[in-house]
Amino acid sequence: MFGVTGDLSRKKLMPAVYDLANRGLLPPGFGLVGFARRDWEDQDFAQVVHEAVKEHARTPFREEVWQQLLEGIRFVPGQFDSDESFERLRATLEELDTARGTGGNHAFYLSIPPSGFEQVMSQLSRHGLAERRPGTWHRVVIEKPFGHDLASARELNDVVETLFLPQEVFRIDHYLGKETVQNMLALRFANQMFEPIWNNHYVSQVQVTMAEDIGIGGRAGYFDGIGIARDVMQNHLLQLLALTAMEEPTSFEASQLRAEKQKVLAAAHVPDRYDLSTARGQYAAGWQGGRAVGGYRQEDGVAPDSHTETFAAMRVDIDNRRWAGVPFYLRTAKRMPRRVTEVALSFKRAPHLPFAATDTTELGTNALVMRIQPDEGVTLRFGAKVPGTQMDIREVSMDFGYGGSFTETSPEAYERLILDVLLGDPPLFPQQEEVELSWKILDPVIDYWASLDEEPEQYPSGTWGPKVGDDMLARDGFAWRRP
Ligand code: BG6
Repeated sequence: MFGVTGDLSRKKLMPAVYDLANRGLLPPGFGLVGFARRDWEDQDFAQVVHEAVKEHARTPFREEVWQQLLEGIRFVPGQFDSDESFERLRATLEELDTARGTGGNHAFYLSIPPSGFEQVMSQLSRHGLAERRPGTWHRVVIEKPFGHDLASARELNDVVETLFLPQEVFRIDHYLGKETVQNMLALRFANQMFEPIWNNHYVSQVQVTMAEDIGIGGRAGYFDGIGIARDVMQNHLLQLLALTAMEEPTSFEASQLRAEKQKVLAAAHVPDRYDLSTARGQYAAGWQGGRAVGGYRQEDGVAPDSHTETFAAMRVDIDNRRWAGVPFYLRTAKRMPRRVTEVALSFKRAPHLPFAATDTTELGTNALVMRIQPDEGVTLRFGAKVPGTQMDIREVSMDFGYGGSFTETSPEAYERLILDVLLGDPPLFPQQEEVELSWKILDPVIDYWASLDEEPEQYPSGTWGPKVGDDMLARDGFAWRRP
């Protein structure tokens, strides 16, 4: 694992490895090798893993599981540009292969900034670490960002594919590792009743929301200059759109699933009056969870005149028979009133309402909401008669919640993804083609925003975003849901 001193590694990756071990899903010979620019011994790294596990693991701590894992933990102090460091890495892997019987199978997890990719790749190659030997496998795992636009995504891929075959490359979009995201496929394709209405005859609009209540915290170095559209729209939100809109794959084999996602992404575009079909904003000072918070430009490491957006919204149209005429609205932001990710399909009104006009004032359109997080489940909104002597209709909800229906606990997204890497099971990993199609959708919008050379509209922290975002939907006769 490269990048073991980072936040992701501490909060997600190391705890996920432990949770997998705890669930009995790792082979006893599993080894974890950390590589970083730290003057650490094996036991120092083990201590870091131990603390991360204690603080962030999902499953209870069990000493015997930890001891088993501990025996396979190694640390290689090193720099990306140092041959000696990679020689040490090679020797460490060989030692582990013998001591633990890993069989020479290696997954290289690159949780590092893209600027380090090329160097690590060429070092792995130079030191024979990615050489294919019969009966063993090598895989590489890469974390987003996969470039910052189409051109850089292609350059990055050229580097990765000099060394690894496409089937050996596992690109992480952790949203695909979430239970509720996988459940979108179950909801659509394991049931008969939703698919017949899943099209432009019945659906009027779709809203994909990924709202976070946090600001950028200490991540200015990464976030400023990138912005929220590149950070999560290019990957998480467009993947949610693809899963919502794609046709049914004939099987869940990776190539089938990817082919359907690619087809729908290729048909998707933001209507080219970007002044009307997109909106962006930046959080200003405000109130969050009962306390006063500063604005984006006051964050450590953010330029006081930064134009980086922390709210992004866009309309995406899909040019195919199923979806022509149905706008998909994507919205994501930091510092919203609460953390919520959901996909909501709104349905057209019933063609005829056999009620007196006054009785229907409260009659809304039906909606099906796939609640991705944090309150995982599915909600159906529909009109019901209000008890009483009049025929008044009011919107009510029918809810499925994970907590109430299952006793099983959901694995963390990274558990599922790391396990799939080790098993070599690719359906939950986007391929380069999907990455490129997503940038093709986003690039013109980001270019347009940059060409404006003006600051995004400010919105107070703890609110649902800037007015331009509301105006964007109002023009189409819709309003954002308030989840
Ligand atoms: C990451 C983004 O991919 O997803 C972060 O880089 C964001 O900016 C995070 O906070 C949100 O993930 P989750 O799983 O908490 O919704």
